[in-house]
Amino acid sequence: MSAHEPTETHRGRTLDPWYSSYATRTKGLTVSEVRALFAVASRPEVVSLAGGSPFVEALPAELIRQAFDRMMLEHGPEALQYGGGQGIPQLREKILELVAIEGVTGVSPDDIVTTTGSQHALDLVTKLFIDPGDVILCESPSYVGALGTFKSYEAAIDHIEMDDEGLDPRALERAIREHRAAGRTVKFLYTIPNFNNPTGVTMSAERRREILEICVREHVLILEDNPYGLLYFDEPAPDSIRAMDAEHVVYLGSFSKILSPGVRVGFVIAPHAIREKLILAVESSILSPSTFNQWLVTEYLSASDWRAQIDTYRGIYAERCTTMMDALDEHLPQLSWTRPNGGFFTWVQLPDSLDSKQMLPRATSELVAYTPGTGFYADGRGRNEMRLSFCLPTPERIRLGVRRLANVINGELELIETFGGAVAGGPSARRGTEQAPSDLV
Ligand SMILES: Cc1ncc(COP(=O)(O)O)c(C=O)c1O
Repeated sequence: MSAHEPTETHRGRTLDPWYSSYATRTKGLTVSEVRALFAVASRPEVVSLAGGSPFVEALPAELIRQAFDRMMLEHGPEALQYGGGQGIPQLREKILELVAIEGVTGVSPDDIVTTTGSQHALDLVTKLFIDPGDVILCESPSYVGALGTFKSYEAAIDHIEMDDEGLDPRALERAIREHRAAGRTVKFLYTIPNFNNPTGVTMSAERRREILEICVREHVLILEDNPYGLLYFDEPAPDSIRAMDAEHVVYLGSFSKILSPGVRVGFVIAPHAIREKLILAVESSILSPSTFNQWLVTEYLSASDWRAQIDTYRGIYAERCTTMMDALDEHLPQLSWTRPNGGFFTWVQLPDSLDSKQMLPRATSELVAYTPGTGFYADGRGRNEMRLSFCLPTPERIRLGVRRLANVINGELELIETFGGAVAGGPSARRGTEQAPSDLV
């Protein structure tokens, strides 16, 4: 047997004849521990407060059909053809209007690269900057999909403390100093300043200035991820960090939450040199982002009242958020959670004795689901935290879900009081690869 053939041990352990052939970095590609439970959670009788899927039912299908018809009539051959790696200029032109709302002005279409959702942009930027062991600083907790990408490039992820104003600038400075003193290379700060996924927290204007000043001084790039900024409830979030600095910030935007995630269109605004490298990275990975989808979005932005559609989404999410806050106040007053002013999520602190991952099987058997906190940290924290999303279920279902969740939590606490120690409930979580659409967002 040659050295490259799989051994019996490998076969026996993994049932994968290619086990010994994979690149070392694939160790970072791990299946979400809660994927199997999320498949259960997508059953209609389960109230899922878990995923981050937008409420696309609020988008009139007619608007998309009209955009499609115009696209095929006026740009059919181009939409069906390969395009350039930077994305179609017509869409990049329209994106200027979108980002101007959040203070990003003085940008040219040339500064923009369109991508297959902002997840693609996260992958490209990480690919450009990260060698194994390089440090990425991020919020504590942070977006599970970004952490997965960072791990897949073997980054060392360090979570910086945050409070209700966002990242703590002193903790950021300290972390940069300590990593450098230990001989590690800090490559970039990844931040979701607006209605953060998973906490719902928004970074204050003052913090944005301080964070930027530190990163400029220390020559640490900022990767600003902003898919939720336009989905505020009462007041807009402060201007984006990119609005204050064009040279030290790579800005990610997305149509997933303000239009539809199915179109898979996002974009990057980057300083000139980084943008050139990004285009090469797009070409080497997918040749070009989908011209078809980019034209569809361009036509949608050109001829429909997309601002009114964003207002519709905002109204729906604001009502659902209020419903969730009221239900938590009513049913779980002993807990604490964030009170977002936009976006999709709230972050709940549980008593130390509870373990949100262990409790999830019991919750799904009681027909409610949430996302356990551990997925949002790279270092195993988050056991007594959970993310609840209010984006997809109706207000009625939110009330029902929170009521069920309160029963689960109060039941667990009673059991712990009676028997002591952590109690794992319900049927055990089977590992599986069946993919529910929402367990990564
Ligand atoms: C913070 C954040 N960044 C990026 C993404 C990925 O979005 P897209 O659909 O644009 O790839 C998500 C999706 O939920 C997200 O919450």
